[in-house]
Amino acid sequence: MCGIIGFSGCEPAAPILLDGLARMEYRGYDSAGIAVRSEHKGLQIKKAKGRLQNLSDLTHNGADLEGTLGIGHTRWATHGEPNDINAHPHVSENGQIALVHNGIIENYLEIKESLLQKGVRFTSDTDSEVVAQLLEFYYRESGNMLDSVTRVLHRIEGSYAFGIICSDYPNALIAARKDSPLILGYGKNGNFIASDVTAILKYTRDVAYMDDGEVAVITPHTIDVFNSELEPVEKTRSQVDWDVSAAEKGGYEHFMFKEIMEQPEAIRKTISPRIRNGRVVLDDISMTADYVRQISRICIIACGSSYHVGMVSKYNWERLLRRPVEVCLASEFRYSDPLVDDHSLVIVISQSGETLDTMAAMREAKRRGARTLSIVNVVGSSIARESDDVLYTWAGPEIAVATTKAYSTQLVLMDLVGLYLADQLGSICEEEYREILEQMQLLPEKMQEVLKQTSDVQYYASRYFNHSSIFFIGRNLDYAMGMEGSLKLKEISYIHSEAYASGELKHGTISLIEPGTLVVALGTYAPLFDKAMSNVIEVKARGAEVLALTTEAFREKMEKTADATIAVPETHTILQPSLGVVPLQMFSYYMALQRGCDIDKPRNLAKSVTVE
Ligand code: AGP
Repeated sequence: MCGIIGFSGCEPAAPILLDGLARMEYRGYDSAGIAVRSEHKGLQIKKAKGRLQNLSDLTHNGADLEGTLGIGHTRWATHGEPNDINAHPHVSENGQIALVHNGIIENYLEIKESLLQKGVRFTSDTDSEVVAQLLEFYYRESGNMLDSVTRVLHRIEGSYAFGIICSDYPNALIAARKDSPLILGYGKNGNFIASDVTAILKYTRDVAYMDDGEVAVITPHTIDVFNSELEPVEKTRSQVDWDVSAAEKGGYEHFMFKEIMEQPEAIRKTISPRIRNGRVVLDDISMTADYVRQISRICIIACGSSYHVGMVSKYNWERLLRRPVEVCLASEFRYSDPLVDDHSLVIVISQSGETLDTMAAMREAKRRGARTLSIVNVVGSSIARESDDVLYTWAGPEIAVATTKAYSTQLVLMDLVGLYLADQLGSICEEEYREILEQMQLLPEKMQEVLKQTSDVQYYASRYFNHSSIFFIGRNLDYAMGMEGSLKLKEISYIHSEAYASGELKHGTISLIEPGTLVVALGTYAPLFDKAMSNVIEVKARGAEVLALTTEAFREKMEKTADATIAVPETHTILQPSLGVVPLQMFSYYMALQRGCDIDKPRNLAKSVTVE
């Protein structure tokens, strides 16, 4: 959730830290702070509640802080309300040690209690401050910062990525990680730590990924990494090929809109290298046909929108593989004593590759012997590195909290994997296999067509933005797609909304339909279009206002009944959600815009959910 950054180098640290935080603000935006060490002034700490801009204004874009060593933090509050005091960096009682933290220290109360008894005074309500105070306590005893950090790490429980500086160490920044992402960056004029690679991309593409239990000492010219026993560890460095401009707005008002528009290209990049001579080629995975044939259970685990991709895939894979496929919310799976074993294939879907629940669920599945295949967007992320196989979605950096292009690329990649497995199992006929692949390659073009309907969707949003409760209804793939449409709307426009399987309406929900209630009726799933129409008629009979989404082929029929209709081009049935979801994303966007919401940084949310 929170974003941390650190720099030890040969140029002023504060502007670099602020720039990095700005690029990571989607990780949390309750408050922000930086600590910079200088020869003359020691540790200088500046914090500000609210958006990062407040901190930039307070420090004149960092110009007020002198020094080339520093740490920064953008917060998504867990312990203690968002205010200046609870903002990071936290400083030890004698003012010598400053620390930024992403994660949760689970045994902080017990440690706090014991430090209080020793007379230590605390200023904040956070779990993170406990670590700064404990560090000072051990440092007083040993006089060695690295030893003290290691002792602290052995004492605390929970998840963390830390950046630590001490006034006694003019050049050294210490970092540690467990279950929260942390990247080391090797720059020309200094070295970095960061939660996300986007924060440092402007300065370096040369990175290494810290592993759980590792500690690093970063100076302007060196980065030394140790394991929990302080034995040196050799890190493998890799080059990040993300385009810096991809993480910038490039003239758009919001990242979300830019990312919606980038979808055709993102899909092209995700599928093109994996379709050769009319076959799906997944070079990156090591599953043999023999292995695929002996799989007895397929389980998809994910959270939020990634889970919704899993819902679409369940329908599609069961159709293609003729095997049962389960979709589980990662937060439920991990504590459910799951029935997976060494004949189970567990598919893990995550844009960030850092979602804590998803990672924990994946570890649980692996512990029980399951083989894991992850579908991840962020290269080198924890889930990507820990899964047995990984397939990357090539969506590029996604900055808006509400996912769009990552969702779309996950969807097509899951369709590709489904086809690949079906081919291995012989459960799909050659004709359908070819037809799906052909249609898949046409998706970017067709999606461009959908994106041309922006002004229609904008018009409908201007008509409906005052509604306080909206229902999405659909069957089969439309139901799964409706779940995503509804989440998108809630997330950024704060309108209450629910997605229902249309067939369930009459079992309870229809009692909520009254004159004027807005129902978004999804009728893009051709095999059940007539049933979708019946449901539209049912809610209309109770006075609902119906905004329908269908395909060009059914537009005319739908227009006769619905109050407003949006139509997308046809494609193969299993691919239809890839086109259908786009107007739903745009609808949420424009609804939020009309309501004056902070679209890229919706309240209470953060892009990467690295706490439980
Ligand atoms: C979607 O718009 C959300 N921001 C959220 O539901 C997200 O999909 C979820 O938190 C999972 O994230 P992940 O894909 O990075 O694991």
